[in-house]
Order: sequence, then C-alpha cells, then structure tokens
Amino acid sequence: MTVVEVALQVNGKPVSHKVPARTHLGDFLRDHVRLTGTHLGCEHGVCGACTVLIDGQPARSCITFAAACSGRHVTTIEGYDGDPVMERLRAAFTRHHALQCGYCTPGMLATARDIVLRLPDADESRVRLELSGNLCRCTGYMGIVGAVMSVLEDLRTQPDPAVQALRAAGGAALPATPPQPTAFQAFAPAQSAAAPQAAASEPPARSAAGKANAIQESFEVPFPADKVWEFMVDLPAVAACLPGATIESQEGDRVKGKVAIKFGPMSAAFNGSARLERDDAAKRAVFRGAGQDTLSQSRATGDIAYRVEPAGTGSRVHVELQYSLQGPLAQFSRSGLVQDFVRRMIAEFGRNVSARLAAPSDGAPMPQAKLSPAAMFFDVLWGRIKRWFKGG
Ligand code: FES
Ligand code: FES
Repeated sequence: MTVVEVALQVNGKPVSHKVPARTHLGDFLRDHVRLTGTHLGCEHGVCGACTVLIDGQPARSCITFAAACSGRHVTTIEGYDGDPVMERLRAAFTRHHALQCGYCTPGMLATARDIVLRLPDADESRVRLELSGNLCRCTGYMGIVGAVMSVLEDLRTQPDPAVQALRAAGGAALPATPPQPTAFQAFAPAQSAAAPQAAASEPPARSAAGKANAIQESFEVPFPADKVWEFMVDLPAVAACLPGATIESQEGDRVKGKVAIKFGPMSAAFNGSARLERDDAAKRAVFRGAGQDTLSQSRATGDIAYRVEPAGTGSRVHVELQYSLQGPLAQFSRSGLVQDFVRRMIAEFGRNVSARLAAPSDGAPMPQAKLSPAAMFFDVLWGRIKRWFKGG
C-alpha cells in the first residue's frame, strides 16, 4: 500500500499526516485530524453530509482524496468561528428548527453558506434547487429552506459589509487566502505574427497559478511534429476534435464558444472565451479560457498547456490541464471519477487528432467530434470498479 504525506491547513492550522494514498479527505479529517464534525453518510458523493470547504468552495470530502488537497485550506464545521454568514445561518437554523438529528447539518450549513454568498437574489425555488445535493434523512427541508431564505432576505433589506466583502472575494476569504500551487510552470509565450497582443480594453489572460486541479497526460500521433504542430494551433480544427466544444466566433487567436459536458448525473454547458498563447519555436502553447454554466452558475477557469515533440516516426503531444471550478459543480471537481473522465477526454481528443490528420478536410468545415456521455460514464465507472477489485 502506498503511503503519502499529506500537509494542508485545516481551519487555519497546519496539519500533516502520513496516510494511505487512497485516503479520502473525510476519513483524513475524522480519523487523523480528529475533527468528527464532518459526517459521512453515503460515501459516494450523493448525500452531501460530508461537504467541507476547500479554498473557500464547497466540496464532498468523501470523494476527494486527501492527497489531492495538499497545500490547500480546508474548512470544516468546527472552523467557522467569526464567519459572518455562518453566524447568521446558525441563528436562522435554530429559529426555523432546521435540524432534528443533525446528521446532515454540517454539510447543509456549508452548502447554505455558498448559496448565501453566491446567489444573493435567490428565490425559494432556486434555494431548493441548490440544496438538492444535500439530503436530510429526517426530511426537515421546510425549516432548512426557511432558514436560508430568511438569511437572504435579511441581507437584502439590511446589507452587511462583512458579507459583501466575502461575496466580493468569491467566498474564498475563509479562513485565509489559499496558497498558490507550485507544480505548474507556465511559460512566457513568444509573440508571433499569428498571436496578436490583446487589445488594451480586454481583460488580461488568467494566469495558470491559482487553478485547483491539475492533470497531465500525453498521447502519440503517427505524424511528424511539424505537421502536428500546424494542426494544434488551428483553433477550429482543434475544437472540432474536442467532444462538446463549439466555436461561435474567432478573432485571431481569441475565440468565444461553448463547451457542453455530460457525465453521469452531471451536465453543464459553459459559455465563455479563450485565448491561445503560442511559442512556435518550441512547439508549445497555452489555451487559457474562462466560462460560466448558465444553469448552475458555476464558473470555470482553465489552462490547457500542450507541447509537441518528435517521438520515433511520429510525435508525442504532452497536455497539462489546470482547471478550477466555483459553484455547485466544484463539489465534483476533485473526485477521482471526474479526473478519470478528463483523462479519457484527453485520450479521445488524441484519437480525434490522429483521425483528422490522417484524413485532412478539403477545405469544408470539419464535423464536430461526437461522444457518447453514457458510454464514457459507464466505461470510467467500470474501470474504477476493476481497479478497486485489484486493490489498485
Ligand atoms: S458522505 Fe454522502 S456525499 Fe459524501
Ligand atoms: S436533521 Fe437529521 S438528517 Fe437532517
């Protein structure tokens, strides 16, 4: 069994333990940090009882590896002293009798805090929708919804500067500013004729620093590096290889478009924009993008850095994906299932690139790559089940 050292901040204090690599954050907090306020119910990412904050964003600790949180700030139910939203929620839960056995309450409060910060104008149906990922086995939903609504209404009639400051910080100000990850080294792109400078009025591209999740993969294509590179900086061609991606407009190396994702119970359609920064001499590029899912209001930022190098008679494309999610979908972003899904998306992308290079279009727009979300979901799930039984 592989043992790893996990060092992170829990409720503002440094914590470090050696644990089996597959230890979930929920078990890490309860069994090693001895903070038992984080409750485990389904342990499958369904009930929400185990919800904690990672860098200020709600996450399900039962499907999050502790090792994936190294260097992060985790806030459990024991760590909200002085938090202006949690003070209001606690009082409102008491007033509205919003707990019975209390098993769901730590997770409910973490989700409720996120609703109050992210959706100041939410009505009751929106609050119910947002809370739908947290199950109360005592079925005390009316009190819970009433408590959240009362906090929202109070803040609408009498704004609280401390809460507004937290909202401006995206909820991430508790308990401290998250650290910057060190694993990813973005490069300073060379400016080529095909990579015009950003117009002064446009916002600067986001840095790779600050993305919470990183995945590195590579794939081989049986074509020379020059030919692959030429393809990899052709944005419509690359987008056509990425299942679910659609480019709606393009101006130089800037694009606006949509990425639709469907994976098991999770579906989202991110609208946003991205920019390609390229270094032709080194055959390296970074595709920086940001978008928002219209349904859940989750926000995503991501950098896809890729590099093409000769490998045998063909080429190897190295891909590093750095992404962070804010909002309800953030709860799933570190789960092993989602990371497996992303890896398979990259592999699928590699196969599509090879297929397109083997059969170049005659100038006609290339058809968009298709994906069977259900097939991929069960493929990923089956792969995991096989690994569990092998003890891998
Ligand atoms: S224990 Fe149910 S979602 Fe984590
Ligand atoms: S109060 Fe008992 S599970 Fe919610």
